[in-house]
Amino acid sequence: MRILVIGSGGREHALAWAIAKSPRCEKLYVMPGNGGTGAIAENVAIDITDHAAVVGFALANAVDFVVIGPDAPAVAGLGDDVRAAGILCFGPSKAAAQLEGSKAFTKELCDEAGVPTAAYGRFDNEAGALAYVRERGAPIVIKADGLAAGKGVTVAMSIEEAEDSVRDCFSGAFGDSGSTVVIEDYLEGEEASLFALCDGESVVMLPSAQDHKRVWDGDRGPNTGGMGAYSPAPVMTPEMTARVENEIILPSIRRMAERGTPFTGVLFAGIMVTAGGPKLIEYNVRFGDPECQVLMLRLQSDALDLLEATARGTLSAVKPVFSDDAALTVVLAAKGYPVSFEKGSEIRGVDGLDGENLVVFHAGTFRPDGKLLANGGRVLDVTALGRTVAEARDRAYAAVDKIDWPEGFCRRDIGWRAVARELKPV
Ligand code: AMP
Ligand code: GLY
Repeated sequence: MRILVIGSGGREHALAWAIAKSPRCEKLYVMPGNGGTGAIAENVAIDITDHAAVVGFALANAVDFVVIGPDAPAVAGLGDDVRAAGILCFGPSKAAAQLEGSKAFTKELCDEAGVPTAAYGRFDNEAGALAYVRERGAPIVIKADGLAAGKGVTVAMSIEEAEDSVRDCFSGAFGDSGSTVVIEDYLEGEEASLFALCDGESVVMLPSAQDHKRVWDGDRGPNTGGMGAYSPAPVMTPEMTARVENEIILPSIRRMAERGTPFTGVLFAGIMVTAGGPKLIEYNVRFGDPECQVLMLRLQSDALDLLEATARGTLSAVKPVFSDDAALTVVLAAKGYPVSFEKGSEIRGVDGLDGENLVVFHAGTFRPDGKLLANGGRVLDVTALGRTVAEARDRAYAAVDKIDWPEGFCRRDIGWRAVARELKPV
C-alpha cells in the first residue's frame, strides 16, 4: 500500500513510524513532514491548505491511503476532498469535524445525546455574556467558539477575569473564532484524555493518556500544545473507561450518525473525572500531540491495519493489542515557547539515541546539510517505555540529558501524578 500522512508534528512522526513498521507499507510520504519523518519516509513540500495540490499529488503518485494528522486540515474538509477523488482517507468529514471546529456544536450534540458535560450558555453578544457570567459567578470558563490554536479558553477564577475574557473574545482577540462564546461551569476533578477509533458506527477504545498542558514544572505558566504525556493514565481505570465509552462516546457517535454526519477517524475526548462521574470537556477529531506518541509506542498491532479498518468501516473486526508497559514522552521546546522563540539553532546528540525502549520523535526540526536544526516551538519528543511510569520517565530523562541543545528546555516533572500514585502503597 502507498500511504500519505498529512502534517509535520511529533504526532505525524509517530504515526509515520508506526505505519512504516507494517509489512503492507510499500511507500510512505509525509506532507510536509519534518527532520525525523525525512529519515523514514519521503517528505513532500506541498502546502496542505491547498487541497487541490494535495489531491493532485496523491493521484499522480498512486497513493492508496491518506492519513490526516492535525485538526486544521480535518476541519477544512481535506478528508472530503480526498475521498471525492476516490482515495481512502483516515479522518473525518468536514461536517463531522465540527465536533472540534465548534464548541457550541458539541454542546448542542451533548444536549441531544444526553452526554454529561458542564452546564453552559452560548452567546453572540457581549452584554448577554457578561450578564450570564455575573449570574453564575466564579470560577467559570469562557471559550471562544472556533479553533483558536489552544488559546481560546480561559478558566477564570474571579468575575473580573471572566469579564475581561468575554470582552477580549468580542473585541476580536480570536478573530471570527470569538464571535460566538460558550460559557460553562467550572468542573473540579482530574483530567485525562481518551481516544476512540470510530468508523461511523463501531468504536474501538484506545488506552488513556495524560497530557501536561502548562509550560512549567508544577503545572504553572501559560497553556501550551502539551509538554509531555504518559499512558496509561491511572485515573482512567477500566471501569471509568467503560463509563466514558458508554455514557459519552457511544451516544455521541450514534447521534452523529442519526444526524446524517457519521464520525469517522479518531475521536479524542477530554474528560474531567469529577465526584459525579466522567464529564466531557471537549472533543477533538484527531490524535493528541504528544499523546499519540505514547500510544504509538505502546501499540503492538499493525497500525496500518487499524487505521485502514477505521477508514473502511470494518472496525468491528479488529481488536488492537497494546503493551502492558507504560510509555512517557518529554517534549523539548525552544526557549521562550509558547510566547516567542527563535528557530534555526543546532541540536546535537539526537542521532543514535533510539533503541528498543526509546524513540525520539521529531516535531519542529529540519535537516539542511545533515545538521539537525530547530524549526518550531515544540521540537523533539523523547519517548520511552518502562514497566512503570517511573521507569519510562527515568529512561526518557536519561536520553534527554544526552541531547545537547542550549537553546531548548523541557519540564522536569512529566509523569508526576502517576509516579506519586505508583509510590503510594495500595
Ligand atoms: P479545552 O480547549 O476545551 O480543552 O480547554 C482547555 C483546558 O481548559 C482544559 O484542558 C481544561 O484544563 C480547562 N477547562 C476547559 N473547560 C473546563 C471546565 N468546564 N472546567 C474546568 N476546566 C476546564
Ligand atoms: N495535547 C493536546 C492536544 O493535542 O490537543
